Amino acid sequence: MAIETSCDETAIAVLEINSKPKILSNIIASQVKIHQKYGGVFPALAKREHQKNLLPVLTKSLKTAKMLKAQSVKRETKNNNLKRKTLQKILEREPNLSKNIEKFLNQYEKPKIDAIAITVGPGLEPCLWTGVNFAKALSSWWNLSLIPVNHLEAHIAANWLEKNPDTKNLFPTICLVVSGGHTQLILMKDFGHYKIIGETRDDAAGECFDKTARVLGLPYPGGPAISKLAEQAQSPSQKDFKINLSRPMINEKNYDFSFSGLKTAVLYDYQKRSAKTKKSAFYLKAISKEIQEAIIDVLIKKTIRAAKDYRAKTIMLGGGVTANNRLRQKFLEETEKKKIEIFIPQPEFSTDNAAMIAVAAYFGIKKKKGWQDIKADANLRI
Ligand code: KG4
Ligand code: ZN
Repeated sequence: MAIETSCDETAIAVLEINSKPKILSNIIASQVKIHQKYGGVFPALAKREHQKNLLPVLTKSLKTAKMLKAQSVKRETKNNNLKRKTLQKILEREPNLSKNIEKFLNQYEKPKIDAIAITVGPGLEPCLWTGVNFAKALSSWWNLSLIPVNHLEAHIAANWLEKNPDTKNLFPTICLVVSGGHTQLILMKDFGHYKIIGETRDDAAGECFDKTARVLGLPYPGGPAISKLAEQAQSPSQKDFKINLSRPMINEKNYDFSFSGLKTAVLYDYQKRSAKTKKSAFYLKAISKEIQEAIIDVLIKKTIRAAKDYRAKTIMLGGGVTANNRLRQKFLEETEKKKIEIFIPQPEFSTDNAAMIAVAAYFGIKKKKGWQDIKADANLRI
């Protein structure tokens, strides 16, 4: 069973993994509607929402996996007192959680799971801690070990959810992880063997979608909003407006990225337009298309160059931005031309979910620990 609370999705999944993973449940409570008012994720609010959502999501996830069984007899032992005290200590800083968790744990049997996987970083510190404390509480009560998972490693591991890529012909692979907080090119030689060969020097690709969307008055998260408008744009409209955004660092002989200049360029373009144009669907579609193309062009060029330089056998994508249709289509076209095999998780597994945390834990099973040894780390590196 895996738990994910690194940003604004509260997610819990149960997987049965022998060779091919079988998803028994994959429940996600999204906070998007709540954060939309603020135009981005507000960490203190996100933490409170996780505290509110975790038990209902756990209940639904176990129920869907057919693992929620009411306790037939209530066992009151001396041991229970100790367990209760430990639980309260673990949830000292999660008062909203500790109130209901005990009732839940007394009401239901221990589910038939082998271990609990938990995202420990990177992410928003207060949010990570809520998930970690919740996982520790369950682990201590049910006497199950915990497997700490790196969120970025899980975005890559999402590629193992549907397919079972033949590992013999897979490595080395070049992974592009593009999310709201990260843009990294990673050389992966095997499970657990990663080397970051390039990353963004300022904003992440997802952050660039989110920030430019905000400039244009579009809702959070910006990626889906921009992508929807871009799909409706027609090529001539772009010429009418003469929007030409630069492709930052595209020709530089390194594997780094920089997206903050794009946000500024969009802001200048927007500011010079008339009030009428700013609001017109015609303009918003045209500029959305150009933003999307600029981001995708840089990501593709640099990823393919890295794959060639490192003689990678395959390319693997992961992270929320890879849910983007145009990015998927262009990556497929370009890698086909260059005869490189590519893996992209289905859109539902590209954005944050707990099923990917479970597969990552399966490959990282050696990291299994007792709950006392688990900590959240907002800046965890792969
Ligand atoms: O991986 P993710 O769900 O959460 C983090 O780990 O950050 O990624 C979220 C990011 C957001 O910036 C969001 O705007 C972007 O992924 N995103 C997209 C699309 N769907 C989500 N970006 C472009 N096109 C999309 N369809
Ligand atoms: Zn993510």
